[in-house]
Amino acid sequence: MKLTVVGCGYLGATHAACMAELGHEVLGMDCDMDKVAVLNSDKAPFFERDLDDLLAQHTRSGRLTFTASYAEAAAFADLHFIGVGTPQLPGEHAYDLSHLFSAVRQLAPRLTRAAVIAVKSTVPVGTAPRVRDLLHEFAPAGDAVEVAWNPEFLRESFAIEDTLRPDRLVLGFDTEHSWAEAVLRRCFENIITAGTPTIVTDWATAELAKASANAFLATKISFINAMAEVCEASGADVEQLADILGHDVRIGRRGMRPGLGFGGGCLPKDIRGFMARAAELGVEQALTILGEVDAINNRRRERMVDCAREQAGGTLAGQRITVWGAAFKPETDDIRDSPALAHQLHELGAHVTVTDPQALDNARKLHPELDYVDDPTAAVQDADLLLHLTEWPQFPRIDPHRLAARTATPKVIDGRGTLDPAAWHEAGWTFRALGRP
Ligand code: UGA
Repeated sequence: MKLTVVGCGYLGATHAACMAELGHEVLGMDCDMDKVAVLNSDKAPFFERDLDDLLAQHTRSGRLTFTASYAEAAAFADLHFIGVGTPQLPGEHAYDLSHLFSAVRQLAPRLTRAAVIAVKSTVPVGTAPRVRDLLHEFAPAGDAVEVAWNPEFLRESFAIEDTLRPDRLVLGFDTEHSWAEAVLRRCFENIITAGTPTIVTDWATAELAKASANAFLATKISFINAMAEVCEASGADVEQLADILGHDVRIGRRGMRPGLGFGGGCLPKDIRGFMARAAELGVEQALTILGEVDAINNRRRERMVDCAREQAGGTLAGQRITVWGAAFKPETDDIRDSPALAHQLHELGAHVTVTDPQALDNARKLHPELDYVDDPTAAVQDADLLLHLTEWPQFPRIDPHRLAARTATPKVIDGRGTLDPAAWHEAGWTFRALGRP
C-alpha cells in the first residue's frame, strides 16, 4: 500500500519506518525542513534504538522518503496517518491541539479524492468529530474523506518493537464496517494475522483507550512511590515490597518500578490533559485521583532534593554534585520533563556535573549553565555527592571501589533503585536510596 505519515517526531518517524518494514510505500511529511533533511539522510533526528538502521534500510530500498510538502503528501496516497505532537498548553493543564488542527487544515484543501485520515496523536476525548468537521468543510472530496482513530501505545526506547509487535491494535471509526476499516485492516494485515488482539470500536472509546492507558500506567508508578513514602517513614524496603506485590498476577511487577517517578513527553501531560477534559465534560470528580498521582510524582522529586540537602549537611550551596543521568528514562536522549533534576540543584547553589550516555547534547542546549562530562567515572572526580537519577544499565556496572578513590567524601543517593547497596557500602560509600532503609 501507499501511505503517508504526517508529523515525524518520536511517534511519526518510527511509524513511517515501521510501515515501510511492513512492505508499504511510505512518504513521511514534516513541516520542519531540517528534520526532513536529516531523515532523508538515513538518520533519526533523535536517539531511538535501531531506528537509524531501519530508516537507512528503507530509504535505500526506496520504500521510504520524507518531504516537507503537504501537496506532495496529499498526492502520494489515500491513507494519511497523523502523528503530530499534542503538548501541554503553557500554564494550563489542557492539550495544545494547534499542531493537529494545523496539519488537518493544510492537508484538507488538497484532498481531491476519497481518503482515510488515521489519527495517532494523543488527544482529549471528543476530538475526532472536530477533525471530521474540518475535513468535510475544507476537503474538495468532502465526506468521501473518512476519519479513523488509531491510538499509539509505543514506549520510547522500545518504539520499533511496540509498533511492529503491539500488545493490541485499536481502530476507532464513526460507523460500523466503514471503508476506512477495510483500508486500515489491509495496512495492518501482517500485524493482525500475527495474532495481535485487534479491537474495532467507536471514536470516543479509541480516544479514551489512550488517555486511560497512560492514566493507569502513571497511577501504578505513583502507587508504588506512595508506598516508598510510607517505607521511608517506617523503615521498610520499597524494592522488596514491589517484588512481593508483583508476584500477585493481578498486580504484576512490570511498570511498577519505584524511584524518582515518571517524566517524559507523555505521562505527565497526558494525566493533566485528561483531568482538564474530564472537567469540561462535567466529570471532574471521576479523575481527582490523577491529581494525587501527579502530586505524589512531584513529591518524589522534592524528596530527592531534600535527601541531597541532608547528605550535604543542610545546604546545597557550594556543594559539588555529580548527576548520573539526564534523560527521562534509559535508552533515550529525550529530556522532556525529566526527573533527573540537575538544574534544580544548580538553582539551589550546587556546582553540578552531569553525565548521560545519550542525552548530553539536549541537556547542554536546555541548561548551558551546568557542567557536562561524557565519562561517568571521570564525572565523579572530586564530587561531594553522587546522585543516580536515570537508570542506564551501564551505571550499576561501574565498580564503586574505583569510583571511591575519586572523591574524599564517597556519598551516593540512588534515585532509581538499580545500584547494589551492599557493593557500595563495602566500597566505603555512604549509600542512601529512595524508599529503602
Ligand atoms: C509512555 C507509555 O508507557 C506508552 O505506553 C505510551 O504510548 C507513551 O507514554 C505515549 O503516550 O506516547 P514513555 O513515556 O515512552 O511511554 O515511557 P515509559 O516507559 O512509560 O516511562 C515513563 C516514565 O515513567 C519514565 O520517566 C520512567 O522512568 C518512569 N517509570 C516507568 C517509572 O518510574 N517506573 C516504572 O515502573 C515505569
